[in-house]
Parts: sequence; structure tokens; C-alpha cells
Amino acid sequence: MPIETTASVVAEVPADAELLAVPYNPDLRPGVDLHLHVPVPDLLAHYDSKGEAGEIVEVPVARGGGVGRVLLYGVGDGSPRALRKSASALTRRVKGRDGLVVVLPEGDAAAFAEAALLAAYTFRIGAPGKRPVRELTFVTPDEQPVRRAQRVAEAVALARDLANMPSSTKNPAWLAERAAEQGVPVRVWDEEQLQAAGFGGILAVGQGSANPPRLIQLSYTPDEPTDRHVVLVGKGITFDSGGLSLKPTENMKTQKTDMAGGAVVIAVLGALAELGAPVRVTGLVAAAENMPSGTAQRPSDVITHYGGRTVEVLNTDAEGRLVLADALAYADAELHPDAVVDIATLTGAISVALGRNIGAVYASDDALAGQLIESGRDSDDRLWRMPLIDDYAPALESQVADLSNVEAGSTYGAGSITAALFLREFAGKRPWAHLDIAGVGRSTVDEGTLSKGATGFGVRVLLDWLTRR
Ligand code: BES
Ligand code: MN
Ligand code: ZN
Repeated sequence: MPIETTASVVAEVPADAELLAVPYNPDLRPGVDLHLHVPVPDLLAHYDSKGEAGEIVEVPVARGGGVGRVLLYGVGDGSPRALRKSASALTRRVKGRDGLVVVLPEGDAAAFAEAALLAAYTFRIGAPGKRPVRELTFVTPDEQPVRRAQRVAEAVALARDLANMPSSTKNPAWLAERAAEQGVPVRVWDEEQLQAAGFGGILAVGQGSANPPRLIQLSYTPDEPTDRHVVLVGKGITFDSGGLSLKPTENMKTQKTDMAGGAVVIAVLGALAELGAPVRVTGLVAAAENMPSGTAQRPSDVITHYGGRTVEVLNTDAEGRLVLADALAYADAELHPDAVVDIATLTGAISVALGRNIGAVYASDDALAGQLIESGRDSDDRLWRMPLIDDYAPALESQVADLSNVEAGSTYGAGSITAALFLREFAGKRPWAHLDIAGVGRSTVDEGTLSKGATGFGVRVLLDWLTRR
């Protein structure tokens, strides 16, 4: 479900605000006169509060004959990072309440408002649970950053919703229907059309499932004319059982989110118009369900990708790269982009390397890598550059095909790097970047801007990058 909390913006603190949040800055003073009976510094000293981000001191106050509450919230050093922490702490504190009026702190209002809204995200199918705060009212003279933040948060929430949806509902055709709701033109290849066009990787991964695969293309064209064209490619595995190289239950039960990259692409394409992105963007989602069955592909099968390259499938659980290879080859051959960025929950190995908070970026182009890392820093979808180590390329040599999809032995290791090297073979000579979000695509905690389950990682960095001028 989308974020249930509504956001409104006012210029002045409403006189009857029952629940009012006010920032106190590093000298422990609120920006607004609250007519409290005890001076704020004394009050904070009493509660041993130092004004750190995430600290909240709740004070009862007289309000129109009754009792209201002021939440004095710390902002730490006032950096965007600290403000995100303050904002999400506030939203979490008022869970279940009707409304909170928030006087915005100094600094990055968009970062603050975005975090406040993201912290309200929940995904439920029928379960009651405690609802997030019904309404957040931001007090600020400038509405624009809050409205932009709200649109970005909605896109993140859509990506989370798509990835959190159980795979009993979410199959490739369902994903294509959701893509068609984004207000941009969509083209969908069904199984027959995939066959006719030679998308052998998407077909091979999908052939074991009762739910046939799809390739989904979304197209955004800005109002102002532009030559610049970016292609985004998302991994859209609606469930990854591993196929005949079956996963154990523990590893399998999180794999409904294996289309998180595709969800990001759909959500980003849906938000570009409202955010006024100045570039043409084509989104491709390579969607398939990876299942074991009598029609599934076998370890040792050789498949032919879009464009004619052959691959020996030594492990059917390395399926993401097979569907992405088709989409990357198609983008290179047919779409003539200035840059291609793919995003995928590709390897368990990347969460060993970078953990759950920082996503990986591989790139054939230093400028592109630099831009994405900068957007990642500013948008809070942080990225770390990983190396495409040419010495490891022999890992993917095959006796019988142009390439194999995994290393046959265990000479090279480096599972996330070799996966990226595989993709590079299909990306062509254009500037290309690959985001491995297997570590950051899911959260195991309800904390800060995250809730347990899908994170929507990638929406914020890509929207930041695509809307920069
Ligand atoms: N979807 C998985 C990667 C993954 C693992 C995502 C854990 C999120 C959490 C991917 O398709 C996969 O199975 N990768 C294999 C590759 C291996 C067979 C070379 C992996 O990481 O084990
Ligand atoms: Mn897999
Ligand atoms: Zn997968």
C-alpha cells in the first residue's frame, strides 16, 4: 500500500496544534517561542538531553482548555544525515496518532520531510497492527522541497510495495500490469514475442514456471526537447527458487524481493514527469519466475541470448545475469542510449563485501560512476565503487559456449565481481554501470527510514541522478 500518512504544508504554526514538534539546535534552543513554564535549556538538562539527532523530549502544555504536547527534537549537527535521523524518530514516536505538526529545522528540508514520510511506510495484507500517524503537517515558508520529497517518498513506497507483494500474486504478467499504471507508454513482450525476437536468456529462466516471462519497456520523454537518453535495466525475477539448482528454504524465503531492481525501474519511470527530469529515459524490466520443474532449464544447458551470444548455464540459480544479459544486449543494439544503468539483487556475495547499508556500483566509465556515487551520497542511497577486475574474466570461460554463467571451479571466487564481468560482456561500448543491491534491497529491521522487508533502494539515487541539471 502507498504511504498512508498524508502530508500537508502550512506557513505558520496552527494555534490549536495538539501535538507539535519543534527542533532544538546545537545551543539547545527551539526556533519558536513555546511559552513553556520552564526554560528549554533547564528542561533539556532535566531530561539529560544533549540535542542529538533522534532525541525527543516530550513536554505537556496547556492547549485551548486541554493538554497538548510539544516534542522538542534534537537535530545533532544539522547535516542531512542527522536530519533524516531526527525526522524518522519523530514519525516513529507518533505512531497511531491522528496528526503531528512539525516545525521544520534549518537545513535540508527535503531530506527531513522525505525521511519523516518513509519512516511511516508499512506493508500489510489484512493484518491490523499499529497504524502510522495519520497526518504530518510541515511548517515551512517554502512548500516546494516538501512536495518534491513527498513524490520521491511515494516512488520509494511503490518500489517497496511491489517487492513486498507475495509471489502468489506477483508474477511477470502482474508486474507488467503495474508498469502500465505509471502514466508512461509501455510495451510488453509476451512469451511468443520473446521467442520471435530471440530473448533466449529471459525465456530459459522462465521456462520452468507456470507463469510465463515478460520483457517490459517503459518510456519517458521530457517536455523540453533533449538528445540525452538513458536506459535503466532492472532484474525482475518475481520469485527465485534457484531453479533446478534449488535454494535451501532459509535462502529461498526472502526471494520474493528478487525483482527489487525491476520495481525500482518501474517506480522511477513513474516519477520522472512530476519531478521534471530533463532526460529521455527508457526502462527495461526483464521479468521471469525461476522455478524447478520438468520444463525447467538444466545445469549444462546452452542458451542463445539476444544478439546471438551463447552461454552455458552451469548453475540455474545464477539467473539474474541471464535475464539482464538479454535486456542489456537489446538496449545496446536497438535503443542507442548515452548511458545504461542496470540494477539487480544479483549476488549474495555483495552483502558479504559491503553489508546491508551500502550498495555496490560497478562502472565502465569513471564519470558515470562519480555521478552515481555523488547522487547516492546526497540522496541517502549510498554506493561504493567495486572493481571490474579483468584478471578474473577467465572465470567465465566455457568449453562449449561463448561464456559460462558461473565459474566452473573455485579458482577466482569474487562472486559479485564475476557477475558484473558477465554483464559487461553484453553492455556494449557505451558508458555502463551496474548496481548490485542484493545486500541493501531488504532490511531485517524496522529502524530509521527502513521497515522490515523491501527497502526501495535505488529509487532515490536514480531520481537524484536523472533530475539533476
Ligand atoms: N537472487 C539471488 C541473489 C540474492 C541472494 C539476493 C540473497 C538477495 C539475497 C541470485 O539470483 C543468486 O541466487 N545468486 C547466487 C549466484 C551463484 C549461484 C553464483 C548467489 O549469490 O549465491
Ligand atoms: Mn538465483
Ligand atoms: Zn536471483
